[in-house]
Amino acid sequence: MKFSFAKPSLSSALGKPGILAVTVATDRSLGALGQELDQKTGGALARAMAAARFTGKKDETLTLLAPSGVGLERVLLVGVGKAEEITDLTLQSVGGTLFVTLDKAGDEASVLVDLPEGAALTGAAAAAEIAFGARLRSYKFDKYKTNDKKAEKKEPKPSLGKLTLLADGADEAKKAFAKLDTLADAVFFTRDLVSEPANVIYPESLADRTKALEDLGVEVEILEPKKLRKLGMGALLGVAQGSAHEARVVVMRYNGNGDGEDQRPLAFIGKGVTFDTGGISIKGAAGMEDMKWDMGGSATVIGTMHALAARKAKVNAVGIVGLVENMPSGTAQRPGDIVTSLSGQTIEVINTDAEGRLVLADCLWYAQDVFKPKLMIDLATLTGAIIVALGHEHAGLFANNDELAQNLTAAGLKVGQPLWRLPMNDAYDKEIETPAADMKNVGSGGGAGSIVGAQFLKRFVNDVPWAHIDIAGVAWAKKDGATVPKGASAFGVRLLDRFVADFHEV
Ligand code: BES
Ligand code: MN
Ligand code: ZN
Repeated sequence: MKFSFAKPSLSSALGKPGILAVTVATDRSLGALGQELDQKTGGALARAMAAARFTGKKDETLTLLAPSGVGLERVLLVGVGKAEEITDLTLQSVGGTLFVTLDKAGDEASVLVDLPEGAALTGAAAAAEIAFGARLRSYKFDKYKTNDKKAEKKEPKPSLGKLTLLADGADEAKKAFAKLDTLADAVFFTRDLVSEPANVIYPESLADRTKALEDLGVEVEILEPKKLRKLGMGALLGVAQGSAHEARVVVMRYNGNGDGEDQRPLAFIGKGVTFDTGGISIKGAAGMEDMKWDMGGSATVIGTMHALAARKAKVNAVGIVGLVENMPSGTAQRPGDIVTSLSGQTIEVINTDAEGRLVLADCLWYAQDVFKPKLMIDLATLTGAIIVALGHEHAGLFANNDELAQNLTAAGLKVGQPLWRLPMNDAYDKEIETPAADMKNVGSGGGAGSIVGAQFLKRFVNDVPWAHIDIAGVAWAKKDGATVPKGASAFGVRLLDRFVADFHEV
């Protein structure tokens, strides 16, 4: 979809082909141009709003067909809510809502960004955010729908090819949008990786895809199985040993900090289980196909590196993803096996389905040992228990550092990716004690599965400021949201990008 920006005037709006969308604030309040349009149509807008009980609530829409006297086929009214409550998130949501209606209506459309006085965001900034929301919502993963494509050739369906935003400061809007568009590219990169099935994305092929980041100035190092064995990543390799696809660890480095004083990188670590059958502790058949997105944490880390490098963020960052496939087979690890992790600590594998923490254990240890980072943040679809606790509305946050937890929470709220912090302490840590080894990989039946998982990870962070984000409930959307269509959400990419921008750029 192409986006363009132009000066707002009714004459130019009326001259444009296709549908015209107009923003409306609460209590049917139209901006100056909206009022002019209402007059030109003999009050059609006001009458339609009253008849349809449309009041201008956020994301409310109303379509008017062929209002007289203005030569327009359709006018789409879209609510933005109370003027004084409008934020960038409001407008992104409005953009997403607009996209859905406009996409079905035709291949060109314009939006009259006509926000009332008193709105916190107007003009160029508002136009850019609406365009960003529309772009985010426009994501489709339909490359395998070959029949649809054939049908489309015979009988083309409308789909929005060009969206023009009419707002003050068109040049400025274009610039602001270019930055957001770059972020959307990173989000789409992540969504693609997560959407691909596990016969296409496996450790080797996922590692290959990270090479695309080299064009953005990211240094990509792929650690092959031989190297992983030499290093001693016994926990990660134990998970991978049942699969015909061998493990990979990818290290992505981006240095944008120039000659800043503190050169220590931020480290982002991702769980990349390209398919999780559970291994010998095998999962049930129902819903197992969902486990193709058990590499969501790694995809978020890859997308974050993409975003930071593409916008030339002034920060040093390292992304480390542990890529394995968890399969049952004659070579698979068994319940009761004891593995030696990179840290030297031994782990009794009671349940082969608690594999994510085994992968992360070695990646976390590697991150702090090799890179001496300022802080570490890991992302993982780690536990079903986090869905019991928080559903699909918040990701779970665990941290050994209050400031880091607060900053991540703040960044999440700003981008609409909320986190909820859960407790950690030694009482939960006792759950993973075992007489056979330094620890075991699951608790002893004391509940709190997500916390126990975090306690396990904590044993591999060596006191570096660290946060763990459990994204099992939010990595995949089961229903459409305003800016996230059903499917891979890329939860965390926007959050980490904002976290870096707000708290760690020099
Ligand atoms: N990948 C799963 C967690 C998961 C479950 C993600 C549902 C998304 C949706 C993870 O590897 C797992 O299997 N965890 C086990 C841990 C248990 C054995 C301690 C779980 O949650 O059941
Ligand atoms: Mn599992
Ligand atoms: Zn898993």
